[in-house]
Amino acid sequence: MSSIQHPDNDLTINPSGNESIRDVMARFQGRRNFMKGTLATATVVSIGGFSVESSADSGYASSPSPAGGIGFTGVPANVVPMTDGITVPPGYTARVLIAWGDAIGKAGAQANVHWDPATEMTEARQLTTWGAHNDGMHLFPFPVGNGVSNDRGLLVSNHEYVDPGLVANTLSYASITMTKEKVDAQIAGHGVSVVEVRKLNGEYKVQRPSAFARRITGATPCKVTGPAAGHALMKTAADPSGTVVLGTLNNCANGYTPWGTYLTCEENFNGYFGTTAAKLAAQPLSALEARYGLAAGGFGYRWHEADPRFDFRDNPNEPNRFGWVVEIDPWNPNAMPVKRTALGRFKHESAETVVGADNSVAVYMGDDERNDYVYKFVCAKKLDTKNRANNRDLLDSGTLYVARFNADGTGVWLPLVWGQNGLTPENGFADQGEVLIKARQAADRLGATMMDRPEWITHHPVTREIYMTLTNNNRRGGTTSNSVNGTTTAGSARPPVDAANPRPDNRYGHIIRWNENGGDVKATGFEWDIFVECGDKLASAPNLQGNIFGDDLGAPDGLWFDKDGRLWIQTDQAGDATGDWANIGGNAMFCADPATRKITRFLTSPKNCEVTGIASTPDGKALFINIQHPGEDWSGSFTARSTWPDSQFNGPTTQAGKPVAKPRSACVVITKDDGGVVGT
Ligand code: FEO
Ligand code: CA
Ligand code: CA
Ligand code: CA
Repeated sequence: MSSIQHPDNDLTINPSGNESIRDVMARFQGRRNFMKGTLATATVVSIGGFSVESSADSGYASSPSPAGGIGFTGVPANVVPMTDGITVPPGYTARVLIAWGDAIGKAGAQANVHWDPATEMTEARQLTTWGAHNDGMHLFPFPVGNGVSNDRGLLVSNHEYVDPGLVANTLSYASITMTKEKVDAQIAGHGVSVVEVRKLNGEYKVQRPSAFARRITGATPCKVTGPAAGHALMKTAADPSGTVVLGTLNNCANGYTPWGTYLTCEENFNGYFGTTAAKLAAQPLSALEARYGLAAGGFGYRWHEADPRFDFRDNPNEPNRFGWVVEIDPWNPNAMPVKRTALGRFKHESAETVVGADNSVAVYMGDDERNDYVYKFVCAKKLDTKNRANNRDLLDSGTLYVARFNADGTGVWLPLVWGQNGLTPENGFADQGEVLIKARQAADRLGATMMDRPEWITHHPVTREIYMTLTNNNRRGGTTSNSVNGTTTAGSARPPVDAANPRPDNRYGHIIRWNENGGDVKATGFEWDIFVECGDKLASAPNLQGNIFGDDLGAPDGLWFDKDGRLWIQTDQAGDATGDWANIGGNAMFCADPATRKITRFLTSPKNCEVTGIASTPDGKALFINIQHPGEDWSGSFTARSTWPDSQFNGPTTQAGKPVAKPRSACVVITKDDGGVVGT
């Protein structure tokens, strides 16, 4: 593999050695108190021609360097001609755990029957196999003794979307005759998979059969709870109660709760709905429909042609039943998923639960749309650490807030509460249910800060400092008109840059972070800082170069702190490493030190894919990541751009002995050959 060596700089990392996280925290707390009480003298370090003010010197209190350090040798960027496979540092091994269409191990005759990707996927086969386009995920360890197992767990993964042509086994999907069967096969590829994983002879494998194996799809009945349950805007002819929705869709990133449940987030749900041009002409889009992006053609899935549930003129309230955070109990395969409406309706990316020192619970969430918002939900009740059952409905009552980032480095959480701040009937909000269903419009009224596409949110395991990726935004600042997804935006109609989103036409994205006032998850104010502006150090335009200390990256998306405080960053850019991405290379996963800001490339990925989703065993010695949509934008041949994973891996869960038929999204397990913690 060839690689371009960036003119990297070598700022000495301040290693935390083998100090325990408690020792590190003692230092952190000491510095934080010091910073609050003194006027810091700024020191500016020069990095590759950039001036980067260190976190401590700006007055913002960042989390410490990770306990155990970051010790691997970074891998080179995957530049053209790209390697169509996973590359990890020397001393590490990556294996495929399970790929689209591999059996999840449901009890019975289907336990070990995999789909043959040379054929059309059917609903029946998809219901016993791993779904399409895996995204966010979490590993729930089994209890063992007084602790948790590192060798046995339930891996729960989202399946964000399908490429319809891959499902229907056709390269001309746009012109085939749609049938209900074709729609149902695609619906079954969405949602969530639960598989049991076990470590046997040093390798993690899917346990087949397992009583826990489960598929939740776009047709699985889900209960609706919270203030919007039973609301007039949630009722349909098929569900006059407005309390039971068929399925969950576009499950992008995720979250999990300290009471052992999984949170799956519904992102671009609007794309599944459509209608005819004639029906839309007879009844144009409402303000609500327009604000959430409904359009006659949707994203081209064509489901509405064969299933009236997805025709938003035949069933105008059906779209209102998507765009929620859905809670799943992985330990009970019969438990109904629950749509928690108190957390608001938007294009949810992740849902990061943070427990305060007093057991208060907050959930941080982003709305991934250009110039949309960041939200926080604070539960009305505290976490019950003794009785799991008492937390079951914690997400049904509380206060939803939206963020305003002030130019002076402070921020405010604005409450989305009916009756306050103009969220009243005369402005179109009849009750709290309507505030939540129209959360975007409610937030518009409050003067929230428009962000550069909020993606994942994570928090430091000890300090509770929050980090969030802002992946990019080609509709901010500047004067150039552009047309994306059929919508043309004039330069003059764009929001201007602001302190929290400082670059016009933000091509490479950035990562923002904040501390709640007093370290209290309930606080209504916070202090924020930009962790990194991503970019290409070799770009000619200064605003494209970023201010990265370490390896270049762009379009940050997946984001996760491990137990030791290493910040893992996954990217979702054009996956072919051409054009703006020629120097940065294909999508990758990076490991960052929150204190020094040093960023090091840990993994590179197959062609035309996205790296997303991350989970770990409790001991940090096995990392699970998802590779999504390898080879996407295939033209003329499914395998033209990628033949991964079957070309790189040949095991029982890939299609052993069969020729490669299609590239497939897959989950990958990464371990360190010496048995150590991944990243050390
Ligand atoms: Fe599905 Fe915002 O990524
Ligand atoms: Ca994402
Ligand atoms: Ca993305
Ligand atoms: Ca994706």
